[in-house]
Amino acid sequence: MTDENATYQKAQTGQPLALEQRNLSEDGRRFSPSTGRNKDAVRDAFLSAMPSTGRILEIASGTGEHGAHITATAEDLTWTYSDIDPVSQASQSAWRDYAAPDRLLGPLSLDTRNRHWGEAESQSPWDGLFCANMIHIAPFEAAEGLFAGAGRLLRSGGRLMLYGPYARSGEIAPSNARFSEDLKRRDPSWGVRDLDLDIQPLADAAGLTLANIIDMPANNLSVVFEKA
Ligand SMILES: C[S@@+](CC[C@H](N)C(=O)[O-])C[C@H]1O[C@@H](n2cnc3c(N)ncnc32)[C@H](O)[C@@H]1O
Repeated sequence: MTDENATYQKAQTGQPLALEQRNLSEDGRRFSPSTGRNKDAVRDAFLSAMPSTGRILEIASGTGEHGAHITATAEDLTWTYSDIDPVSQASQSAWRDYAAPDRLLGPLSLDTRNRHWGEAESQSPWDGLFCANMIHIAPFEAAEGLFAGAGRLLRSGGRLMLYGPYARSGEIAPSNARFSEDLKRRDPSWGVRDLDLDIQPLADAAGLTLANIIDMPANNLSVVFEKA
């Protein structure tokens, strides 16, 4: 089954927020083809650089596959889903019920652009925040809010992991440049961010230091920051 009738949050230009057709199982779990391709590499990067015990808040959980996949291996983690999109939240609920209801929680309704993150604030401090493939498919305010929230809600020594494509100090791989132009055609406020020029200043302002950069397949990076 496919989700042709999904009512995704719309970008400014009216294009769907989800960039691909996500398959839907009868129990409500959605499957993203791109997440299916990258979830093993993302899990391995997470296991190498993020806390192995404690509580993780996932931002922009999408289908919910990353949380289910990572917690299947990381058995001492509790993982809370969140998203702004009700269709994605429904899939996260279905993955929670299917995979590990005792360690998969949420979804919380959370828009990183808000100055107050609702329930995520009252449940802080978090041991880790994880966010895959959001900051280039949202206005830059979403990245600004993400780092402000990480600075506010992580415990000291807690970590924020981002996964996705980046430019580095003005240099960008041709495939990422094409992707970025495609995103900007959909919504001029979207686009691949520069880790050094756009993102590092947000980390500095939030009191986060760069802990790890992990090369990932297809010119992506996993980037890990630690709160002082
Ligand atoms: C391309 S999907 C990525 C989903 C998932 N993280 C993954 O990698 O498979 C982008 C997600 O970001 C969410 N999103 C977009 N803007 C957001 C915001 N300001 N705050 C929280 N989530 C947001 C969307 O609802 C969507 O689920």
